[in-house]
Amino acid sequence: MYYKITSLFIFFFLSSQYNSYSQNHNKNKSNQDKIIQAKVDSLIKIMTLEEKVGQMNQYNGFYDVTGPSPNEGNSKIKYDQLRSGLVGSMLNVRGVKEVRAVQKIVIEESRLGIPLIIGFDVIHGYKTISPIPLAEAASWDLKAIKKSAGVAAEEAAAAGINWTFAPMVDISRDARWGRVMEGAGEDPYLASRIAEARVTGFQGEDLSSVQTIAACAKHFAAYGFSESGKEYNTVDIGTSTLYNIVLPPFKAAADAGVKTFMNGFNELNGIPATGNSFLQREILKKRWGFDGFVVSDWASIGEMTSWGYTENLKAAAKKAVLAGSDMDMESNAYITHLLQLVKNNEVDEAILDDAVSRILKVKYELGLFDDPYKYCDEKRELTTIGSVKNKEAVLDMARKSIVLLKNENQILPLRKNGQKIALIGALANDKNSPLGSWRTAADDNSAISVLEGMQKYSGNTLSFAKGADLVIGETAFIHELNINSTDKTGFKEAIDLAKQTDVVIMVLGEHGYQSGEGRSRTSLDLPGVQQELLEEVFKVNKNIVLVLNNGRPLSITWADEHIPAIVEAWHLGTETGNAIAQVLYGDYNPSGKLPVSFPRNIGQVPIYYNYKSTGRPLAYEDKKMVFWSHYSDVENTPLYPFGYGLSYTSFKYNSLETDKKVYGTNEKVNISVTLKNTGEVTGKEVIQLYIQDLFASITRPVKELKAFKMIELKPGESKKVNFVLDKESLGFYNNEGEYMIEPGKFKIFVGGSSYTSLESNFELK
Ligand code: NOJ
Repeated sequence: MYYKITSLFIFFFLSSQYNSYSQNHNKNKSNQDKIIQAKVDSLIKIMTLEEKVGQMNQYNGFYDVTGPSPNEGNSKIKYDQLRSGLVGSMLNVRGVKEVRAVQKIVIEESRLGIPLIIGFDVIHGYKTISPIPLAEAASWDLKAIKKSAGVAAEEAAAAGINWTFAPMVDISRDARWGRVMEGAGEDPYLASRIAEARVTGFQGEDLSSVQTIAACAKHFAAYGFSESGKEYNTVDIGTSTLYNIVLPPFKAAADAGVKTFMNGFNELNGIPATGNSFLQREILKKRWGFDGFVVSDWASIGEMTSWGYTENLKAAAKKAVLAGSDMDMESNAYITHLLQLVKNNEVDEAILDDAVSRILKVKYELGLFDDPYKYCDEKRELTTIGSVKNKEAVLDMARKSIVLLKNENQILPLRKNGQKIALIGALANDKNSPLGSWRTAADDNSAISVLEGMQKYSGNTLSFAKGADLVIGETAFIHELNINSTDKTGFKEAIDLAKQTDVVIMVLGEHGYQSGEGRSRTSLDLPGVQQELLEEVFKVNKNIVLVLNNGRPLSITWADEHIPAIVEAWHLGTETGNAIAQVLYGDYNPSGKLPVSFPRNIGQVPIYYNYKSTGRPLAYEDKKMVFWSHYSDVENTPLYPFGYGLSYTSFKYNSLETDKKVYGTNEKVNISVTLKNTGEVTGKEVIQLYIQDLFASITRPVKELKAFKMIELKPGESKKVNFVLDKESLGFYNNEGEYMIEPGKFKIFVGGSSYTSLESNFELK
């Protein structure tokens, strides 16, 4: 039946006249794009208004729910609408059998048989789970991140899915916000490079391949700046932050060819993102020339009424569509009201044509019109999902994501023989928590636990004691207060065990469901009784390696002062235990660097390395003076800065040089630096280059990351590394959103973290 469209196309392609909206889109298109656009135009011509509205309507499936479902129990309505061509997309339908079933309805029973685009939150893997996105960002390894997205795409595509709601590219500076785990951290440059890697990883070279899926840059825009880190909250930021910090990763995703955008639950300076014409029409579609489509977030069109922005669902539908939201996820706003809005002349049909054109174009690009069942191959599903190759890929990503925060007395790597090792903490024996938040398609308890990973090294004696449960109960939607256990009856067993062992590995942190959507926290301490457990064990054995599992920066100041070794291991996915054991035993030398600042305490939040100087940045020489920008109870610096991470070897930076001292604003600044491995083992280092624009018409941060390179060096080896900065790196956005380069003095800093070791300068004339 899907031949319906193909034959119609032949007729209409011959007679098609490009109308005004397609003319605008067609300016710079390749031939292939033009052919697709012509097909789209032809199809739109034969669509009824109802069918156009239908393409803009997205429903949740029948099982998984990733938001409050207004449509639960209404399966019959959904099925009827699928038959009538009133649904353009479904989310949370997964698995070849399920996808084929819904696709079959629209293909065989609806008038035009326009295939559905099937979306799913493939955030860090489909069934084979890779590290949470924040952890992957800690690898700073763009190739690995791209590959990880490719593996996720391959598995999701094999399960019938064509479209992921990822990457999430929201910058956040507030670890209280649970969705910090889903992004790439606090820095717009690193996040932009990662956005490109993820988009190209998901989408591949050829979107119509059965191994790739369309990506979605979300949440447009500024959701990560939710006030006080509280989920779904107001966002009120200035234009300088919007243009220079929030928007760059979205722009990078658009430039990398991302096919879709998702707007957000937040409002931005009084206008909900979903109804925000400035963001969606002016910035995204006009200034950036984005020609894919925008999907709303779950029910976010309807929620504009709760915001007090629209009086009812009809008004919300109107605002959203006029503002450039092309597809309605689960609000029922478009399907209920758009038709009438057009008939009443409140919304021009051309607006719908534009939205539908964008949606159909992506469906064509995915090849769904050629064969709507192309992603539905049971054999491929069986052989692809959970393959050995995919497990190896996520293991590699997991090792690369680990950050060594502290290693005194060379307690790490562990000796492989003859030691008594105690493994303590409920998380050490947990096979579910390591999968982290956003792992809907993964099998429960399918991760390799730390205990299992450690057991593979048989030269030592390994014993385990839980100490205390971390959480009471365990479901994806239990996340409210009192989730943490307060039972300390297991302490004694853990303390007794610690007394008898050479080294204690304590696996502490957050359960996988304690971060993610709807999981904001007002404390960044170790949840529950874990801090107490740590301190009690420390009283009897000081040889502790603290392995952290968490989805956000935690404030672990006490641990930093007392515990000799600390390993940041996030939620690393399916291969967690293997990755952690290989790092602890030195079979993998850690090279991760923090993509977020770790605060000393929660009072420092929001904390980030690229802050502004203020008018009073320094203590007066007389330290008793209080009139400078600081706290009186804790120092300004974070516990661990952005970009920080140790290795089992050491590195020395030398000879930072520029080829000239004065450059024209159009010239390239060539920079070189030498790095030496001064330790005993081969290791990788992420060389980070920051600048400071000293004086500008808009104040600039004290440091901005502008380039980085990862290199591997053998012991004693040194290498000269070159960087080039050009006008893309040296300018900034003014408050009108125009990119500016201003002559003046710049500093350059290079080092292994944002606490850089070398400094130089140059001038732009
Ligand atoms: C709401 C989340 O904000 C969004 O990121 C996600 O893609 C949708 N739910 C669909 O699950």
